[in-house]
Amino acid sequence: MTTARTTCRTTQALAAAMLLAAASAPAQQEEAGYASARAEMVQEIAAYARTAQESAEGFDQDVMRALGEVPRHEFVPEDRKRSAYENRPLSIGHGQTISQPYIVALMTHLSAPEPGDTVLEVGTGSGYQAAVLSELVSSVYSIEIIEPLANEAKARLERLGYDDVTSRLGDGYYGWEEHAPFDAIVVTAAASHVPPPLIAQLKPGGRMVIPVGGRFLTQQLLLIEKTGDDEIVTRQIAAVRFVPLTGER
Ligand SMILES: C[S@@+](CC[C@H](N)C(=O)[O-])C[C@H]1O[C@@H](n2cnc3c(N)ncnc32)[C@H](O)[C@@H]1O
Repeated sequence: MTTARTTCRTTQALAAAMLLAAASAPAQQEEAGYASARAEMVQEIAAYARTAQESAEGFDQDVMRALGEVPRHEFVPEDRKRSAYENRPLSIGHGQTISQPYIVALMTHLSAPEPGDTVLEVGTGSGYQAAVLSELVSSVYSIEIIEPLANEAKARLERLGYDDVTSRLGDGYYGWEEHAPFDAIVVTAAASHVPPPLIAQLKPGGRMVIPVGGRFLTQQLLLIEKTGDDEIVTRQIAAVRFVPLTGER
């Protein structure tokens, strides 16, 4: 009797395990597909970088590893997932975009992330750039001015376990005074000028990467290094096109 009941339970458990395996197989295949598309995207970015003047020396290996880790398909709307690993910006709604992966790699590389760094990002958008940075530094603070995007990005980053990213709704022009000074600041929307509060919140020795220029003009991606308390050195890196930095200023 005992043997029959045990056999029956074993059979039921086996059937349940087989059902579970059958149900999770398509999901596993989908994830494997995304992982291989992501690996191809990283190779494509590395190859493209060697052809562009601003990145001819190639990107830091850790930056490329971070791009290979972050699941970009989780940061785009459902109907854009198929295109998530194409090297181009994609719409995330509200007139905004998730940046082109090559540009994310370039900006991350220029910010010269170190493991102990605290970084500010202005323009959370989908949260993707913040997630990439969090693979490389110890804390990322990110500010987004559009409320639904700020809420969605916060929930997404929490769901995906990016515990080192703290995000909030606000106008990033003014930085995030409570957590300053920052080792690096990455601005992912084009400003008409370099916001003075951001310069003030950069550590001596810190780097800021920011696109500057008008809405309908070619913008310049700038790398600003704070060499002393009141000294900065600015380099023009590349012509770029970003959505504008909005807000009161
Ligand atoms: C190109 S998208 C950023 C993409 C984002 N970094 C990502 O990884 O998805 C620029 C973002 O900057 C935001 N933004 C524009 N002006 C801002 C401001 N003053 N403060 C904070 N965010 C701002 C926009 O709403 C938009 O979400």
